[in-house]
Amino acid sequence: MLLKDKKIVIMGIRNKWSIAYGIAKSAYENGAKLIFTYMGEENKPKIEQLISGFEGSKTYVLDNAADDDLVKEVFTKIKEENGKVDGIVHAIAHANTEDLHNDFIYTSREGFNHANDVSAYSFVLTARMAKELDMLNENASLVTLTYHGSTKVLEGYNVMGIAKAALESSVRYLAENLGKEGMRVNAVSAGPIKTLSAKGIKDFGSILTEVEKRAPLHRNVTTTQVGNVATFLLSEMSDAITGQVVYADSGYNIMGV
Ligand SMILES: NC(=O)c1ccc[n+]([C@@H]2O[C@H](COP(=O)([O-])OP(=O)(O)OC[C@H]3O[C@@H](n4cnc5c(N)ncnc54)[C@H](O)[C@@H]3O)[C@@H](O)[C@H]2O)c1
Repeated sequence: MLLKDKKIVIMGIRNKWSIAYGIAKSAYENGAKLIFTYMGEENKPKIEQLISGFEGSKTYVLDNAADDDLVKEVFTKIKEENGKVDGIVHAIAHANTEDLHNDFIYTSREGFNHANDVSAYSFVLTARMAKELDMLNENASLVTLTYHGSTKVLEGYNVMGIAKAALESSVRYLAENLGKEGMRVNAVSAGPIKTLSAKGIKDFGSILTEVEKRAPLHRNVTTTQVGNVATFLLSEMSDAITGQVVYADSGYNIMGV
């Protein structure tokens, strides 16, 4: 029970394939009390059904994690209704479809800004709002989700690779800032998983095949495996770790040709 009695906010649950769902499952099984944010009021019944097995959970609509006013409003409500929390998981990303289908060189300024705003800046905003609203307990842990496309060229990942590079760098700067208060900030770099977001990436199936072929463990990862790594990073077991990108990818990232 690594997270016994800990309150964890999980941002970005969409369906049972979501990485956020795998993280929720692992955190819940490790004793956490869960607070979810999700997009779209119309999804409320679906989300409540999805998380019904996680007893005592709360849900809040957050339509845009990159919007200062919305994040402030939702975090204020979360704090009022639940008190301070011990961790926040940020599992949010978005890029325009055309920017994942065309060659990277054709990325529009608007598409570039959008991907970075939603996928990277929203994490900075999350950390700042949580701090400003005094929402985090001592020793709180913040975790975000990234991908290998931040440092290597993967056809079709395009502008999302740039956003993930910004996100990973933000993890390091946030870790330095919040470290003064004993709080930690890390990223899990998950191997490819067939989620709704991943469907937007061209030839995603071939990436999965390649991982099976070349990763040291010769298998793809599951959302539960990624969830277990997030649980570790949220827990005191990892209290010597901050500012890191921890790969949960069957070892794929270490391979050369
Ligand atoms: N699936 C993969 O292969 C993979 C690999 C590594 C990292 N990741 C990362 O994991 C995280 C979760 O993605 P996933 O694969 O579980 O897909 P998903 O589609 O299940 O989750 C993405 C979530 O982002 C939310 N979202 C998008 N734009 C938003 C906005 N403006 N404001 C608030 N929420 C917004 C969606 O509602 C959704 O809940 C993302 O950061 C993704 O880049 C995914």
